Amino acid sequence: MHMEARRMDLERHCAAKLDELAVRHQRRATVPTVRRAGMVVERAGRVMIDFSSNDSLGLSHHPEVIAAAQQAAAEYGVGAGASRLVSGEGVLARALEDDLARSKGAARSLLFSSGYAANLGVVPALVGIGDSIVIDAWAHACLMSAAKLSGAVIHVFRHNDIDHAKQLLSLPANKRLLITESVFSMDGDRAPLSSLRTVADDHDAWLLVDDAHGAWVGQPTTTMNDAHLITTTLSKALGGLGGAVCGPEALIELLWSRARTQVYSTGLPPPVIAAAHQAVRIAMREPDRCRLPWQLAARFCAAADLPPPASHIVPWFIGDDAAAMTAMTKLQDEGLLAVAIRAPTVPAGTARLRLSFSAVHQVSDVDRLAGLLRLTTPVVDATKR
Ligand SMILES: Cc1ncc(COP(=O)(O)O)c(C=O)c1O
Repeated sequence: MHMEARRMDLERHCAAKLDELAVRHQRRATVPTVRRAGMVVERAGRVMIDFSSNDSLGLSHHPEVIAAAQQAAAEYGVGAGASRLVSGEGVLARALEDDLARSKGAARSLLFSSGYAANLGVVPALVGIGDSIVIDAWAHACLMSAAKLSGAVIHVFRHNDIDHAKQLLSLPANKRLLITESVFSMDGDRAPLSSLRTVADDHDAWLLVDDAHGAWVGQPTTTMNDAHLITTTLSKALGGLGGAVCGPEALIELLWSRARTQVYSTGLPPPVIAAAHQAVRIAMREPDRCRLPWQLAARFCAAADLPPPASHIVPWFIGDDAAAMTAMTKLQDEGLLAVAIRAPTVPAGTARLRLSFSAVHQVSDVDRLAGLLRLTTPVVDATKR
């Protein structure tokens, strides 16, 4: 009876929290969706072209990537068994880590179960109580969570504001970690990495750059010339799942002992590692594929009267949450999926359709998207919001 009462109490507690979220329009839900090759998705019996996914090279459905995963599953099984510290070093992981490190000009890299886990592992391994973290206001939620988890004092600098970052780095601290992203996930703009690197050097700070949205997608690519350590993901341009930290030898060795999301978490499954490695090989041998997403974004912006994009991610600003949802629904009626992003993921009043272009999008669909958006919602320049 007591057990039943507690169960009901838990249910009431969660229901009350859900009600609060609903009042704030922050309750989230998924939509049953089937993803197919070529950015084709099926939702509620409707076939659409997906302009919201991060599968920017279209590698999640590449036949060679699928074959690599199938072969690895047949040979090594579908699970790692335990943390790599316990079940040992599989033959696949280190080879992928070597290629990832090479791609960034780093001495070593270390795989994690996601980009989220990579950030959550590395930041608290590096800094803690008595140290400071100076972080861009638009940094991804997992970087903010990692900063909080570390116990260091957190100073948030205004987005891409070098002077503000400098000011905060001048505050007393034992060790200092400066954190930003190469390409910002919701806006597609870039951090001024060379200035931030100089500022970090001048203030005895390390610069951590999260390259989740920059890696493998056009130029300029982030390397160890831009940052002291880089985190990245296998889940976006590489089309699979997983994350990595790239940096100097001793950093990676430290992570083996101190990154809790590494030490206490099961290693990536062999098919996932093999898929990511094949995806890396394809990205390395097909630079034209890597350039296409940004080129398509540029074509879209020209057709939609927007300034040239800084990357393959283009926000179509609408402002009002309800209007963003209406715009999304109108596009869906035309067979195009562009998901509305609202607060708290982005600041209130800046609701947008976040468009993410992929190497496997058809030019005709990109042109149709631009035409439809121009017809249905006014163009709002990012600089005017
Ligand atoms: C900048 C950034 N870092 C990290 C992540 C998390 O990566 P993953 O999806 O591999 O966990 C994301 C995901 O959206 C991201 O945008």
